[in-house]
Amino acid sequence: MVIFGASGDLTKRLLVPALYNLACDGLLNPNFAVLGTAMDDWTTEQFRARMNEDILKFHTRPEFEKVAWDDLVSRFHYLPGGFADLKVFEILKAKVAELNAKHLAQGNVLFYFATAPRFFGVICENLFKSGFREAPGWKRIIVEKPFGTDLQSALKLNEEILTHWSEDQIYRVDHYLGKETVQNLLTFRFSNGIFEPLWNKNYIDNIQFNVSEAVDVEGRGGYYDQSGVLRDMMQNHMFQMLAYLCMEVPGSFASDAIRNEKAKLLQAVRVYTPEQVARYTVRGQYGPLYEDGKMVKQGYRQEKDVDPESKTETYAAMRVHIDNWRWEGVPIYLRSGKALWKRGTEIVVEFKKSPEALFRNTPVERLGANRLIFHIQPYQGIEIQFQAKIPGPLLHIQPVQMLFGYGDAFKASRYTGYEVMIYSCTLGDGTLFSRGDLVEAAWRVAQPLLDYWKATPAEFPKYRRNGWGPPAAAELIQRDGRAWHEVVTEEVLRKVDLFKDSDVLFLSQVIMALRPKQAAQGELVIKKGAVANEMYIIVRGELEALDDVGNVIHILKDGAAFGEIAILTSKPRQANVRCRTACDLFVLEKPAFLRILRDHYQFLESVCTIAKERYDLTLDPKELLAQL
Ligand code: BG6
Repeated sequence: MVIFGASGDLTKRLLVPALYNLACDGLLNPNFAVLGTAMDDWTTEQFRARMNEDILKFHTRPEFEKVAWDDLVSRFHYLPGGFADLKVFEILKAKVAELNAKHLAQGNVLFYFATAPRFFGVICENLFKSGFREAPGWKRIIVEKPFGTDLQSALKLNEEILTHWSEDQIYRVDHYLGKETVQNLLTFRFSNGIFEPLWNKNYIDNIQFNVSEAVDVEGRGGYYDQSGVLRDMMQNHMFQMLAYLCMEVPGSFASDAIRNEKAKLLQAVRVYTPEQVARYTVRGQYGPLYEDGKMVKQGYRQEKDVDPESKTETYAAMRVHIDNWRWEGVPIYLRSGKALWKRGTEIVVEFKKSPEALFRNTPVERLGANRLIFHIQPYQGIEIQFQAKIPGPLLHIQPVQMLFGYGDAFKASRYTGYEVMIYSCTLGDGTLFSRGDLVEAAWRVAQPLLDYWKATPAEFPKYRRNGWGPPAAAELIQRDGRAWHEVVTEEVLRKVDLFKDSDVLFLSQVIMALRPKQAAQGELVIKKGAVANEMYIIVRGELEALDDVGNVIHILKDGAAFGEIAILTSKPRQANVRCRTACDLFVLEKPAFLRILRDHYQFLESVCTIAKERYDLTLDPKELLAQL
């Protein structure tokens, strides 16, 4: 394996730890060797010494296996040189021949391009000119992302690469395809008989893809400001997941059978006109975080190497139309952003509801939708949500879940995601890599967004750090009479005082019952005198409770809950509650709240304690329980 860019971050953080995992798992050929090359003027000894240090920081195994590592690193070699210099490639060729003889590698070479994209074309050309292609043994090239920065540059890059090499020698990396949970999308769909018959417009109401990142640009402002979330996440990682989830059934699991279907799916995604871009997409950029009027964390425009007037989007949401028989008319929503309230990637497949008419004359007012949720990361699992009858003489319904967690079912070590890619490339299996036509189809869909957004710069910023993203993203889906399904995590709920010491079972019941709500600055969330039908939890933002003449009685901040007491006392709302800032809230409706109180006496007690502390109101939990 020849690594171009061997002195860089990718090599030490991901490639070498992945090779080490393969070695530990006995999946590296005994004739395997690495030749690292880069501009840095290192010797083989220096390269090994650095890798010896770095592996201790970046390996992913529970314990470091020294014997396996020592054997692997003894097969590492290094050659300094520039990628644009043909003379360097002559020396490289001689070195590869020497190592080939030493390690009996049969002339097989995997070239890994872990370099800046501007070098991809020239390395291909120089490898060709120095005669690598004709030499005996197989030659394969792994190209890192980004593959182009728009449609035109991707077409050009494909042309440059394919002038000298054939498509079956090119392996374009998308690291999402290295994730077990992403690979499992196909296995799940095609190895289980129950879902595939439902996988179409007749049974599915909508599909939502959410990639939410809590991190900001993390010092990568120079790169990110030229990129934005559409190029960085959507055009590649999210479109790959979209293709896996929505493609037709392939004839086999052969690499090209799968890639043909993926390409066909992306080719069926509607390419928008400027009017459609305006209608079906939303963008945003994160602003600073203020606490008590002071900026505690800077916004995107203040990040290092970012233009202070930057128009680059750090958040985007879009509705996608797939114009084929299977999906015609099914809204498919994508959203992704940085500096959001949580880290979480999930795909939510929402099925059409059962007719509610059947439940008339029963206490059931509304039926929830069945959802199938693929939890991609950091929690890894698959969940089915459905309705169940609450035990008891009356017909009450509650949403419940069946949950499969990878961690419960499989004992798997942590991997980098690159193991499977390097391994399948050595076997000549391109399934987990993007083919040229797929990359081009993805850019064709993204290009009108890039063009329209460039031509009509937005007023940024549009959302606060740690928030839920721009309110326009909620409006985008609400216009269709739907809402984003927020996957609330236990970690997020624990930040709320009321729930911080609660057990997991209890929290999972609360999570199932929460509904997200965004409220604008100045909006009245609770109106004095109104009937209390719901309680609220503040994820982010500040609200104020006001007396009759508008004086502030108290201020409610992140993590606080409010509105629960009036439900318990069945009295009208005692005060107005208004947003001082834009707010991200969770709503817990009265029937769900009462049900949870009934089931969890300890929670009822803590609600009574809050009533005493906050409102000097004495409530007896035992008496309340008897009335619930
Ligand atoms: C990379 C992007 O491709 O994917 C990053 O350049 C992003 O900006 C990362 O943070 C997300 O990957 P993961 O595996 O953490 O979801």
